Amino acid sequence: MAIRIIRIDDDPILRKKSKPVTVFDEKLKVLVDDMVETMHHADGVGLAAPQIGILKQVIVLDLYDDEGPMALINPRIIDKKGKQIEEEGCLSLPGRHGMVERPYEVTVQYEDVTGDSYELTGEELLSRVLCHEIDHLNGILYIDKQLEDTEKIAE
Ligand code: NI
Repeated sequence: MAIRIIRIDDDPILRKKSKPVTVFDEKLKVLVDDMVETMHHADGVGLAAPQIGILKQVIVLDLYDDEGPMALINPRIIDKKGKQIEEEGCLSLPGRHGMVERPYEVTVQYEDVTGDSYELTGEELLSRVLCHEIDHLNGILYIDKQLEDTEKIAE
């Protein structure tokens, strides 16, 4: 396992679209392990592959609950319910926060590292993290959606 460098601020790779994963091999497992290690090292709750410079549809998340770290390959939102507005930040935008509206609940279809398909429904923080990380795969950052006049920048 290895800690990878997190791309930040106006790095152009953060604005590119990621490609679907079609090969579920050892290299994918290494990528996922490195992403989990990098996320933990940065004290993050989620990380998307483009944030470490890899334009593949891979996200990892860890809410530090009983579930442990999870890796979702080719995640896509298939259902959304309700709304929530909470403060959000991003490992690629250090020192910044802003309020973002997200669905209260989302259902995501995805593959695991072996290529098996699953569905996951998450509420509240899990819904927020799923939406935030899936946005990264489309080159979208939370600041694109942040509610007006809610930007906070650390001194
Ligand atoms: Ni982020």
